[in-house]
Amino acid sequence: MCVTSGISADYTVRDVTRDGRNLVIRPIRPDDKPIFEDEFKHLSPESRYYRFFSAKTELSQKELAYFSEIDLINHVGLLAFIQDGDKLIAAGTGRYIVCSSVDEPPTAELAFEVCEEYQGLGIASLLLRHLTEIARSAGIVRFVAYVLPTNRKMLDVFYHSDLKVQKKAIAGGVLTITMKLR
Ligand SMILES: CC(C)(COP(=O)(O)OP(=O)(O)OC[C@H]1O[C@@H](n2cnc3c(N)ncnc32)[C@H](O)[C@@H]1OP(=O)(O)O)[C@@H](O)C(=O)NCCC(=O)NCCS
Repeated sequence: MCVTSGISADYTVRDVTRDGRNLVIRPIRPDDKPIFEDEFKHLSPESRYYRFFSAKTELSQKELAYFSEIDLINHVGLLAFIQDGDKLIAAGTGRYIVCSSVDEPPTAELAFEVCEEYQGLGIASLLLRHLTEIARSAGIVRFVAYVLPTNRKMLDVFYHSDLKVQKKAIAGGVLTITMKLR
């Protein structure tokens, strides 16, 4: 089954972090490449390893294009900004990418990264909640995530969410978590 809806470019939601900071959440845009470059530079080696499963030192132009030039249907990405007066500070990203073939129930793969200094404020959990709402409206029935087994923070975000973890499997040192959306 094909996924035919997602979000429009003017989608915006407001939310609040666990410690009371105001968040503005909007879709990723092609001109966000400098934000991704900057976010990547400021991730710790451990966070980079958890996100990319390798000791990656830079993002290529091709990767930057892949992360930012998205259709908001099969690849839906949200950027969360902390509002500091009239300044918006990029704090984290969550995305899903539809990964099922046309004859399978619509399934999407999740990925997140939150800037080191803003981790633990609930930002990934909030992004997951908004991505879940969007995915449900689009008819997606399952999320899948590939997580290193020691990535407790990511696993906790999934386990504390309202999604039902259907299946956990480990292969090649990577945990595959399958979560049911409805
Ligand atoms: C994994 C990652 C995205 C989590 O982002 P985050 O915004 O820090 O996540 P949250 O704040 O929503 O949740 C993480 C913490 O909150 C806790 N938490 C989340 N929801 C909770 C809830 N409902 N109740 C209690 N605790 C909760 C978690 O246990 C965790 O605890 P900690 O404070 O000891 O760290 C972030 O650490 C990161 O960017 N890591 C590097 C990249 C990565 O690993 N990506 C995942 C690959 S898919």
